[in-house]
Amino acid sequence: MDRWNNKIAVVTGASSGIGEALAKALMKKNIKVVGLARRIEKMKINFNKEQGVFYPIKCDLSKEDEIINVFQWIEKNLKSIHILVNNAGIISENLCIESTTEHIKRTIDVNLIAPTICTREAVKIMRKNNVAGHIININSILGQNILFFNNTAFDMYSPSKFALKAMSQVVELELEHVKNKTKITTIYPGLVKTELPPQESFNVLPYLNAEDVCDSIIHILSTPPHVQIKELTIVPLSSSILLR
Ligand SMILES: NC(=O)c1ccc[n+]([C@@H]2O[C@H](COP(=O)([O-])OP(=O)(O)OC[C@H]3O[C@@H](n4cnc5c(N)ncnc54)[C@H](OP(=O)(O)O)[C@@H]3O)[C@@H](O)[C@H]2O)c1
Repeated sequence: MDRWNNKIAVVTGASSGIGEALAKALMKKNIKVVGLARRIEKMKINFNKEQGVFYPIKCDLSKEDEIINVFQWIEKNLKSIHILVNNAGIISENLCIESTTEHIKRTIDVNLIAPTICTREAVKIMRKNNVAGHIININSILGQNILFFNNTAFDMYSPSKFALKAMSQVVELELEHVKNKTKITTIYPGLVKTELPPQESFNVLPYLNAEDVCDSIIHILSTPPHVQIKELTIVPLSSSILLR
């Protein structure tokens, strides 16, 4: 991890769950973290007692102008970016066939368009500064298989995550094409105990804690420059039956 010492990581969705735990884990490794979320007060309170450098920035990722402003602020004040974790996400328990167009677009905006815009803006800054960085896209096992649980197939969540997988692959090829050595990794967690999933699922299904996902991300970041972990699926033991 030493090569990331004092470097800059952007973590989207740092106000709760995996993003909050990951931001704290990165700070412990001496990485300066820019945390994005709408709930700025929650971020300030949650990180108040943490050692290390944390910049909480209020950003609604469904709004392009807010994303662009954040990356301009980073370039002006912190000069560069070394790690981007596209973590923020939303789920929906609606039925797609009964959903509104606004709702459908919102899931795609947050889960697919926002990571794509963040990646584009981060890569621009990385390339300008000749940085060989690392982009981590937090996907889901629901981006590999579509499941039906509790009367829902989660509306546009799986379609947004299937497309996020494709986005990672496109960007990987493009980075190689422009001869930038930034790595891109897609993580597919199973059920994780956070605010996101239907809370009754924790009563009937095995689950991971956010820290379990963070441990794997720290491992991925600590690989030497020539090693590329393209994808990683992390599920709680005994949940494989769900994936068949
Ligand atoms: N928990 C699971 O079982 C599970 C499983 C597989 C994959 N994942 C993925 O893991 C990632 C993190 O989810 P989590 O479980 O940690 O959920 P979470 O605790 O609900 O956290 C989601 C984060 O996304 C942020 N966010 C949502 N909409 C946003 C918006 N419009 N603008 C800015 N930030 C926004 C939230 O911040 P604000 O509300 O403050 O804006 C929050 O910090 C997601 O991509 C999710 O799909 C989760």
